[in-house]
Amino acid sequence: TDLAHIRNFSIVAHIDHGKSTLADRLIQETGTVQDRDMKEQLLDSMDIERERGITIKANTVRIDYTADNGEQYVLNLIDTPGHVDFAYEVSRSMRAVEGSLLVVDSTQGVEAQTLANVYQAIDADHEIVPVLNKIDLPASDCDRVAEQIEDVIGIDATDAIQVSAKTGQGIHETLEAIVHKLPAPKGERDAPLKAMLVDSWYDSYLGVIVLVRIMDGVLKKGMRVKFMSNGTLHHVDRVGVFRPEMQMVDQLGPGEIGFLTASIKQVRDTRVGDTITNDRNGCEEPLPGFKPAQPVVFCGLFPVDSAEFEDLRDAIEKLALNDASFSFEMETSAALGFGFRCGFLGLLHLEVIRDRIEREYDIELITTAPSVIYHVYMKDGEMIELHNPADMPDMSKVDHLEEPRIKATILVPDEYLGDVLKLCQDRRGIQMDLTYAGSRAMVVYDLPLNEVVFDFYDRLKSVTKGYASFDYQMTGYRQDNLVKMSILVNDEPVDALSVMVHRDRAETRGRAMCEKLKELIPRHMFKIPIQAAIGGKVIARETLSALRKDVTAKCYGGDATRKRKLLEKQKAGKKKMRQFGKVDIPQEAFISALKMD
Ligand code: GTP
Repeated sequence: TDLAHIRNFSIVAHIDHGKSTLADRLIQETGTVQDRDMKEQLLDSMDIERERGITIKANTVRIDYTADNGEQYVLNLIDTPGHVDFAYEVSRSMRAVEGSLLVVDSTQGVEAQTLANVYQAIDADHEIVPVLNKIDLPASDCDRVAEQIEDVIGIDATDAIQVSAKTGQGIHETLEAIVHKLPAPKGERDAPLKAMLVDSWYDSYLGVIVLVRIMDGVLKKGMRVKFMSNGTLHHVDRVGVFRPEMQMVDQLGPGEIGFLTASIKQVRDTRVGDTITNDRNGCEEPLPGFKPAQPVVFCGLFPVDSAEFEDLRDAIEKLALNDASFSFEMETSAALGFGFRCGFLGLLHLEVIRDRIEREYDIELITTAPSVIYHVYMKDGEMIELHNPADMPDMSKVDHLEEPRIKATILVPDEYLGDVLKLCQDRRGIQMDLTYAGSRAMVVYDLPLNEVVFDFYDRLKSVTKGYASFDYQMTGYRQDNLVKMSILVNDEPVDALSVMVHRDRAETRGRAMCEKLKELIPRHMFKIPIQAAIGGKVIARETLSALRKDVTAKCYGGDATRKRKLLEKQKAGKKKMRQFGKVDIPQEAFISALKMD
């Protein structure tokens, strides 16, 4: 196809504003898929995505469209992940296309993720077409939302297209706008191949499938290509496009989006954002801005049943093959035995992987407190990246510590603003900005990532009854007065409960954790002290009193079935516990103890 008849675009939207529904409609309207083959939400392919209603992996589809002017166009839609954890993947997908549809639910208005994603589109120099969706609903208010788009985002919304992805109204206008408002791609057919690796995933028949955007040159079946980030060479055995099912083609030229396969065994061997070129006489400069996605949140995953350690290893290795941004290494904990220290892009990523291990591999897990990466500066000048509070070096050898900070953007209706400010303040936030868009406030806070990874989002949802939206980006490291707090149960330190805290908040946190643990740990035949300590110094303490009687005693020895039931219940309760010295600690304690109410 010649460049003038190609349009490449993505759709940016806040979760639930109708991105997938609109994509499905565009595909349906152009006859790309026969109606009877049309599955709801064609582009969200993984079960877990569908269940949670979120899009995790970028997907793409090539649409043939004959415009009102009689010309034939090829429209390539790249679907981008909507969640903040996958911001890097969003930014790469954006660089692979020239324009975006900005979809805003006309009953709701602009939300935090709308902003985060649209700024990425603006960064990537996109032409942006605003689309107001859900106009079939009575609560739809296009004038208000258009005005809000202009106020908050600062782009012209006078020509915003009014759409119902549900009824199909406005879909034709959207297709015409894609053709007439978005620019055609640029590129040189005669130049050496320069293609961006936009995404990759594993297919059990074809091996790793690599989604590419051709910038210059031509990608052909049979050629040898080089991945510039690591210099590896590959023989291209298939080239194709998604309609949305795979269709093989002989070649892809400049401006086109499609896929290649090259007998690549694992997704880890491909890096999102990498440049692909000819093995000889390739392009000189790779595409700018390549960086592999780095895990930012770490936690330990241990099997509840230590006999399942090898099964867990197997599950984690399999999942990692297909997810280059998920990292793991073996970890031994005095308390929990053998397990893995795993790194994730964010909390959602953590939850998705943990869910998959429990569900697809049927392994019950103990998850230790999520932690961020601290920079520990030693007195001898060395800097250590600390992924696990249990590895914290002796404080006397440490000069100072730095922690990662974020810039958080929160949009919230007026009436909840006070609660949101208090929450951010409690989490050591520094307010940077506060503006209004209609009856909604937009607050920007500088916050320690550590205070956000745990239960910030849950707390935010609960104090605003779900009306706030939230997004963040990492800003860098800053020094602060941070210490490691250990928890001792029956005088034994439980390393899986160690946390890094700010010195000023240590007492409060320590007391809260001890109180929580006192509720969560069942009583034993002896008295159990529960303590929080910094270095050797105890800063909080609770005592769990001893159990006096046998649990069955209150059955008066009479009813045998009742007695047996009680014992069975006790046994079942035990299954989910781990022993620490002489004390059984239930699985849920590891996470619950850290929740701050
Ligand atoms: P994520 O995949 O989670 O990012 O969400 P999304 O933005 O793709 O939203 P999705 O397409 O899943 O739509 C969210 C909900 O809104 C679904 O229940 C849709 O059926 C509904 N919806 C989408 N478009 C319309 C519309 O035009 N009118 C009405 N009434 N409902 C719509």
